[in-house]
Amino acid sequence: MTSYLVVGASRGIGLAFVKQLSANPQNKVFAGVRNVESSIHLQPLLSRPNVHAIKLDMTDVISLKAAAEEVARINHGKLDILIINAGLTGSGKPFKDCTYEEIIEEHSMFTNNVLGPVLTIKAFLPLVSQGAQKKIIAISSANADSEFILTVGFDKGATYTATKAALNAYITKLSLQYRQEGIVFRSICPGLVDTGATRDPPILDQSRYEPRLKQIKPLFPDFKGPLTPEQSVDAVLEVIDKTTMADSGTFVSHKGNKDWL
Ligand SMILES: NC(=O)c1ccc[n+]([C@@H]2O[C@H](COP(=O)([O-])OP(=O)(O)OC[C@H]3O[C@@H](n4cnc5c(N)ncnc54)[C@H](OP(=O)(O)O)[C@@H]3O)[C@@H](O)[C@H]2O)c1
Repeated sequence: MTSYLVVGASRGIGLAFVKQLSANPQNKVFAGVRNVESSIHLQPLLSRPNVHAIKLDMTDVISLKAAAEEVARINHGKLDILIINAGLTGSGKPFKDCTYEEIIEEHSMFTNNVLGPVLTIKAFLPLVSQGAQKKIIAISSANADSEFILTVGFDKGATYTATKAALNAYITKLSLQYRQEGIVFRSICPGLVDTGATRDPPILDQSRYEPRLKQIKPLFPDFKGPLTPEQSVDAVLEVIDKTTMADSGTFVSHKGNKDWL
């Protein structure tokens, strides 16, 4: 049996991880959410015997310690694979239109997207070190790949991009610090994924992708449009499965390479 903790499992890609993983009775899945009661999309999955809801906020050390104790209690002190999926995306407002106050306000995203995952790693490392697979996966973004961003010309979301680049840097450094202990770290981008259906309220209008698709299509004619969360997760799980110590510290796409779309 393989045990997984998916952090940020209330909706979107995290929810799809829980859905796909728990479909296999050989997996034990811990679904990490800030609020179990309000996670309405997760609720139906909690009746599956191999799914456990774990209350957890990445930025709250007390909550992380309690969550790690709970997982340790249920899973005999170990965890095979930690997937840190949770993240915030921010306003995407162009830099030239931002006031000083808005820039400072948006930088709280560093607390959530960088400090949060680092504290989460700190809390769960003792369990992962006892696991059979010893893998820590950070869900990052192709936005953190400068070459890709320059190619497609995505200019918005600088702060979000900076948080994911910083997260990748942590993953690379920690991979070196924990290599001797056999713990594998990797950053993986899930692709461009339409998670609108599990937003509150749901966003089902596909036309919001049009400006981005206009930029992408001429450069990547084979690109078919955003993935569903399930398509993304199937691909990312294959990458996680194939990940070995030789890959530790690297940053790849849902295809396991630098093909981001
Ligand atoms: N969708 C894409 O196209 C895309 C592309 C590249 C990368 N990504 C990355 O993939 C990940 C998932 O994206 P998504 O589109 O599924 O996002 P989403 O629908 O906005 O869901 C984000 C999840 O993160 C949780 N979360 C945020 N901060 C948290 C915290 N401090 N502690 C615990 N949980 C927290 C949210 O929980 P609440 O319900 O409590 O708010 C929610 O479950 C993110 O890291 C994102 O940056 C997404």
